[in-house]
Amino acid sequence: MAILCPSLLAADPLNLGKEIKRAEAAGVTWLHVDVMDGCFVPNLSSFTYSTVAAMRKATDLTLDVHLMIDRPIRYVEDFCRAGADYLTLHVEADSREHIRAALEKIRSLGVKPGIVLKPGTPAEAVEEFLPLVDMALVMTVEPGFGGQKFMSRMMPKVTRLRQLLDRVNPACHVEVDGGVDGQTFRACLQSGADVLVAGSAFFRSEDPQALRRLIEKGAMSIVEVETKNKGTSE
Ligand code: DX5
Ligand code: ZN
Repeated sequence: MAILCPSLLAADPLNLGKEIKRAEAAGVTWLHVDVMDGCFVPNLSSFTYSTVAAMRKATDLTLDVHLMIDRPIRYVEDFCRAGADYLTLHVEADSREHIRAALEKIRSLGVKPGIVLKPGTPAEAVEEFLPLVDMALVMTVEPGFGGQKFMSRMMPKVTRLRQLLDRVNPACHVEVDGGVDGQTFRACLQSGADVLVAGSAFFRSEDPQALRRLIEKGAMSIVEVETKNKGTSE
């Protein structure tokens, strides 16, 4: 089953509690929290570990925290203790040794580690980390801002990561983030993504539940087609 993961970056910052309730009412099971430091990306966000701790008290939804910060190892413990369920770091944000150490630290604190790639980073750059993670995230926009245009040219990377993971870590999710909406979700599912982040398309919609239904229905029809194709090829 595909998962719609609404990004709170597009929510009303003065009414976060209400926005979380609105997401719950739309039937979603996950929330995406974007943390930006103004260095790794040219923007700041108002989310930090104290916001995550407050969210943890307010909801039982799965909190998927996306760190867009330099040298994330400095803060992983704070985010784990705050109550993140998934904590995802950029492979470009530090040396390979520090990235590995950060992923291992997250795991040791009982949280699910994830690795994320900017659009210019090839799938092979994260290959060595795939056995260590529960989430591989492909950015479908340059990280830093909501509301950008979806990069369909990232779809082969989604498929490549799914193939690499099927060999070493089949239970790992493949997530896409940026420009996902009622049109672009289909390419994501067909390419092998199973967690779809949507900010603007969810929180700026009058009927956010419709997007969830569309994605879940779309995923079911893709599984049906795949099963049929398998049936005819055997
Ligand atoms: C961008 C963030 C995204 C952003 C997506 O750097 O990582 O999570 O909120 O927003 P939309 O869905 O509007 O592109
Ligand atoms: Zn994000």
